[in-house]
Amino acid sequence: MSQVKRKTFKPSEGAAAVVTGAGSGIGRSFAYEIVRRGGSVICADIDAERAEETARTLSELGEGRAIAYTCDVGSEKQMAALAEEAESLLGRPVTLVINNAGVGVGGPIGEVPLKDWRWCLKVNLWGVIHGCHFFAPKLRELGYGGIINVASAAGFGAAPEMSAYNVTKSAVLSLSETLAAELTGTGVHVSALCPTVVPTNILDKARLPENRSDFASAAMSKLAFTTSDEVARKTLDALDRKQLYVVPQFDGRIMWRFKRYAPRLYARTLGEAYRLAAN
Ligand SMILES: NC(=O)c1ccc[n+]([C@@H]2O[C@H](COP(=O)([O-])OP(=O)(O)OC[C@H]3O[C@@H](n4cnc5c(N)ncnc54)[C@H](O)[C@@H]3O)[C@@H](O)[C@H]2O)c1
Repeated sequence: MSQVKRKTFKPSEGAAAVVTGAGSGIGRSFAYEIVRRGGSVICADIDAERAEETARTLSELGEGRAIAYTCDVGSEKQMAALAEEAESLLGRPVTLVINNAGVGVGGPIGEVPLKDWRWCLKVNLWGVIHGCHFFAPKLRELGYGGIINVASAAGFGAAPEMSAYNVTKSAVLSLSETLAAELTGTGVHVSALCPTVVPTNILDKARLPENRSDFASAAMSKLAFTTSDEVARKTLDALDRKQLYVVPQFDGRIMWRFKRYAPRLYARTLGEAYRLAAN
């Protein structure tokens, strides 16, 4: 690709994309938006039926090519196979990878079962590591494209009783920052998405203490002021603008600034609010 073309290139337009966790929520919205922007997409998900449903819906819209693919992002072997097969499934080299698949785990430190910690790390962190490890070299070689890693405002917010989830998301932020630095000047852009609450199906499979499920559902319905479609659109636009950090919601931007400019006050306020809520 020439220097001039590289400057005006928009990774979200006419992409040959892979989206993990495309069977639901934000991933499904990403797949839809990519096809709407003239691209083709592999809709990868551990849930074969949901992946099929996304691909079928997109094909019925007649807007582009969507291929369902079943895969566990936590499996090195399955992610290596996805990276190997993606080009022939799409009919051209992959230009956009969205490492989106994720799960929720909650509860106080010391009470979250270690097997739930491992599950969370395997999907939310190893899934993104696998996506970057297997696809970044291919994109670098191609010389243009984009990678979006789905982190969360939890990656900088450190909310109580979300330790495992917070840890994975701050690690995804760090991984994305490192990758962005390594890919500078290669024509491949990296964005890390940090949403607050988005209404999706994430709580269906989340592992939470029994007495926290209702609270989490209520919080999701009360605090979600956006949709997954809006988040996907804003994030793809941000990638096109070569924006590393994507904090699409107002509450997330307030949190980001508060934490950044007054980190000790932020931590104390969070702790006091938690103590008051618990009593
Ligand atoms: N919903 C929110 O409030 C919110 C906020 C911040 C960040 N996020 C992040 O957004 C991403 C998408 O979550 P969502 O809210 O759309 O949830 P969702 O549950 O609606 O969708 C997640 C999809 O990932 C798939 N998945 C789960 N484990 C997988 C695995 N091992 N391999 C492949 N696919 C797997 C699920 O089957 C599901 O289709 C996650 O990384 C999540 O942490 C969500």
